[in-house]
Amino acid sequence: MAHLFNRNILLGVSGGIAAYKSAELVRALQERGAKVRVIMTHGAQEFITPLTLQALSGNPVHTELLDERAELGMGHIELARWADALLIAPATADLISRLSAGRADDLLTTVALATAAPMMLAPAMNQQMWKDQATAANINTLVERGVKIVGPEAGLQACGDIGPGRMEAPEVIADAAGGLFTSGELAGKRIVITAGPTREALDPVRYISNNSSGKMGYALAQAAVDAGAITTLVSGPVNLAAPEHTQVLNVQSAEEMLDQCLQLLPDCDIFIACAAVADYRPATVQNQKIKKGPEEVTLQMVRNPDIVATVASHEQKPYTVGFAAETNDVLAYARDKMQRKGLDMIVANDVADQSIGFNSDENAVTVLWPDGEQTIERANKTTIARQIVHLIAQHS
Ligand code: C5P
Repeated sequence: MAHLFNRNILLGVSGGIAAYKSAELVRALQERGAKVRVIMTHGAQEFITPLTLQALSGNPVHTELLDERAELGMGHIELARWADALLIAPATADLISRLSAGRADDLLTTVALATAAPMMLAPAMNQQMWKDQATAANINTLVERGVKIVGPEAGLQACGDIGPGRMEAPEVIADAAGGLFTSGELAGKRIVITAGPTREALDPVRYISNNSSGKMGYALAQAAVDAGAITTLVSGPVNLAAPEHTQVLNVQSAEEMLDQCLQLLPDCDIFIACAAVADYRPATVQNQKIKKGPEEVTLQMVRNPDIVATVASHEQKPYTVGFAAETNDVLAYARDKMQRKGLDMIVANDVADQSIGFNSDENAVTVLWPDGEQTIERANKTTIARQIVHLIAQHS
């Protein structure tokens, strides 16, 4: 399933029998994380009511170009700016013709001209209309302008004909829309990043944790998204806003983090372990709050699973990147850790220097891979993250 997290998808619906499938398409887009607003042509409203799409999208449906009240709410220029992508499904032969001519005679065609967002069409029409030279020429014109086309598929049509012209299935269209956002050196790659600390419970109110801020992992997620990757953060408890267009899965303990990562492996090309995972957890978690008592208590701890080593030895191993925070012999220890854990790349930082690393906004690292290494000079974590992602793109 494609990810459309926090993408603003403007869905244009024109007047064909396939318009009834737009309801399902709204759902499919939302399931992939998109925010959806709908524009309907007058023709579309003959097939499905604005109320249906309003209820499903959670937003008023836009139908009129020259409507004072609508322009007071979200006018056509604002809609055009709001959109991260304009998806028109179904796109009828008439609409395709008007788009190719650059007309602006209703709200949908006007917004199509006024938006700088990428556009995708899901044509739907009678098979003979689809095969007609006029339609073919119009589609060619639009494709040359960079418009993406999904479908149509062949099959039995509402009119009884058999042939190409049926609108693609909503799920297929929603997945294809994901492709509109994948450009960059990691275009379409699926990246999973662990970030932040883990919390290992002692009892219902207490836990053992560490000072990791999660900033490096979150910066890596943003850099991965910017490079076109479909990015998921598996995050321990942190005080950071989710990076744009990233799916954030919140976990507490190391075991939860491992479970979540393993579930994601079938859909993962690159795994980056940036979390400061607690090495040990209390051997037992008390059901009740532990009472004050003796002057001294002994806490029994057990080893946590090593998440990155587990991922690296998995049969579905992605390209795996780890981190090594060391205080001395940084590069030698890091290279040894890379080999021991079966990693493809490791990012080493010297935590003896307290002004960088853990809670700071800056870092300086050396990135090592089996037959090379590169030092990234001290910089803010955003800049460091971009350079790490660039090296991953070159070597993965
Ligand atoms: O062994 P050490 O903790 O120094 O290794 C650090 C690297 O291993 C980091 O990439 C960290 O995210 C990962 N790690 C892990 N699971 C653990 C401990 C560390 O994924 N239990």
